[in-house]
Amino acid sequence: MDLTFVDAILTKHNRDTRSLLAIMQDIQEEVRYLPKEAVQHLSKELSIPLSRIYAMATFYNSFHLEPRGKYTCTVCMGTACHVAGAPRLVEQLERDLKIDSGKTTPDLMFSIEEVNCVGACALAPLLIVNGEYNSNMTSDAVSRKIKKLKKEEGGA
Ligand code: FES
Repeated sequence: MDLTFVDAILTKHNRDTRSLLAIMQDIQEEVRYLPKEAVQHLSKELSIPLSRIYAMATFYNSFHLEPRGKYTCTVCMGTACHVAGAPRLVEQLERDLKIDSGKTTPDLMFSIEEVNCVGACALAPLLIVNGEYNSNMTSDAVSRKIKKLKKEEGGA
């Protein structure tokens, strides 16, 4: 993996160990997750133990240690969304994308995620795609959404 972008981020933060969290956030923003190679590089360049970086990544659960798709399909599994049919939305995503929830497609286009209530219960059940809220979703609407995104990307 080309780590030039990690060096650029380190330079931006003056290689200041106090900026570790911001550095990790910038890396994730660049490649959508924290690659193992990038974490090792950080550890070496900043003389911070790997274990400390991983502990931080785990503590702040906004960090991802596995590659993520260009589109993150997040289904709210809070009570209101659950009752309104959220599990069916997850099943539909799993069928359409041929991956399990929590995973990413091999072409790195889509990831499926489940979250707890995001505070928009009036919109239940809710599918969030890269931060865009899709309210009152049905299995059919999920399929249409995925098809549309695939088409935009030039796929099937
Ligand atoms: S339960 Fe889904 S937004 Fe509250």
